[in-house]
Amino acid sequence: MTTVASVREQDEAVTVLTAYDATTAELVEAVGIDVILVGDSLGNATLGYDSTLPVTMDDVARATDAVARATDDALVVADLPFLSYGVDTAQSIENAGRLLKESGAQAVKIESGPHTVELTERLTQLGIPVMAHLGLTPQHVHGIGGYTRQGTTEERAAEIVHLAEAHQEAGAFSLVLEHVPREVGKAVTEAVEMPVIGIGAGPDTDGQVLVVDDAVGLSASVPPFAEAFGDVRAEMREAIEAYRDAVVSGAFPAEEHSHSEGLDL
Ligand code: KIV
Repeated sequence: MTTVASVREQDEAVTVLTAYDATTAELVEAVGIDVILVGDSLGNATLGYDSTLPVTMDDVARATDAVARATDDALVVADLPFLSYGVDTAQSIENAGRLLKESGAQAVKIESGPHTVELTERLTQLGIPVMAHLGLTPQHVHGIGGYTRQGTTEERAAEIVHLAEAHQEAGAFSLVLEHVPREVGKAVTEAVEMPVIGIGAGPDTDGQVLVVDDAVGLSASVPPFAEAFGDVRAEMREAIEAYRDAVVSGAFPAEEHSHSEGLDL
């Protein structure tokens, strides 16, 4: 939290990646990524849904448990899934608290709007740090008509800046800003003191976040603002094919994969 909060003094970009399991979290932390986000993107990335809407508290809690167990230094932020907040204040607080109390997250992320300012303030007062999320908020996919770029008019851009300020005022410690024109990324970053973590928001934010499956090249396709820095999908496919061929041909298991106790059976 301190690293993230002091990023502007240190003049070094904050690095954020998602992870949904212990093995990935271990690798992400080992290379020194600052923040691990247990995003509700796990719905698309690992559960086979075509949106994040079906993701449940149990899904996020279980993934957060695994990530937190594998992590010592990185800040673990868990996403509040669709309708786990905002319906009822007490339930929103309990759900957010569960991710800290039981699953080991240190903060929660909330897809934000005018309706989350009050909740952000309440959670912050209770000791639950909040990362806000503006711009494209995928839980609103049906309301906004797809995963489209946001803040594309001056009026809409000004709304985003205003909401960023309101969430900072309410106590948010950081903000994810998704799929907006780069000038909106710059304007929001200049308007607030909390670190702004961009995803498709241009180069002027304080840090960047990507879905890990996109970053390593495991996803079948990546959004236009993302980059695959590897080709894990091809590597996995090759390894799986090699395994299948070895079993079919009898090359696996080889001598070294078996042992004998000299049993007389
Ligand atoms: O759910 C998620 O992983 C996210 C990031 C893409 C910012 O919200």
